[in-house]
Amino acid sequence: MDLRPVGIFDSGVGGLTAVREFRKLLPAEDIVYLGDTARVPYGGRSVAELEGIALSDVRFLLSRGVKAILVACGTVSSNCMGLVMGSAGVPASGVVVPAVREAVNSSRSGRIGVLSTLATARSGAFEREIAAMAPDALVISSGTAELVPLVEAGRTSLDDSAVRTALESCLAPFAGGAVDTLILGCTHYPLLGGAIAELLGGGVGLIDAGAAGARETACLLRESGLDCRARRIGSCSLCTTGPAAGFEPLAGLFLGAGRALRAEHVEL
Ligand code: DGL
Repeated sequence: MDLRPVGIFDSGVGGLTAVREFRKLLPAEDIVYLGDTARVPYGGRSVAELEGIALSDVRFLLSRGVKAILVACGTVSSNCMGLVMGSAGVPASGVVVPAVREAVNSSRSGRIGVLSTLATARSGAFEREIAAMAPDALVISSGTAELVPLVEAGRTSLDDSAVRTALESCLAPFAGGAVDTLILGCTHYPLLGGAIAELLGGGVGLIDAGAAGARETACLLRESGLDCRARRIGSCSLCTTGPAAGFEPLAGLFLGAGRALRAEHVEL
């Protein structure tokens, strides 16, 4: 048994989709969450920029004594997971492989969509992983820069015309039965899950990459004996590189707390 916390990071509030699932699976674990809102969005950045950012995010979590790291960011997972795994010195996992595994298992027709940030689409990581696990699958991908800023602003409802317009345009390639399974390849997107499901209709199964990553990290901790088996409810320390006051209400909303949650402003 290992009482050290688990580190989870993303560019902003998106990785809280992984935190939510992880807390359900292993409620005794302490979590240190880093939302790098000073540098959000990651999705328009070059690989070199993303590598520098990922290393500084990992360094911060290690400074808090974490025993394992979940990269709850599709963009970092797609572009520099090898670097993170090679440099962290503790077990690290991302969201691409677990999300693809779930999509391949749940697709009946083998027509799988991937909705992601531009940097993730450019990397081709999801497509490579799908080809490795299901060589006959047909993949339709779409990258967009529009959704992350909306989610960071707490705008997730179809009643909001900017949300509706952005979603109608980036979901167009997946509509009309083009896919039966859609990977939400950016961890911000499950926060738009209700709106996406409404626009695509019930025939398309949505894969939440953050939740898939959380399930994989929980398995990894259990299998390696690194999990915490104490009878307790673990803590969740929320850290943000941006203003804490902006992060706190969104964190409360997205973690289902029904109130703003305290966050700590940190400098990397
Ligand atoms: N949640 C991040 C991802 O999964 C968002 C990237 C961004 O900041 O653009 O890709």
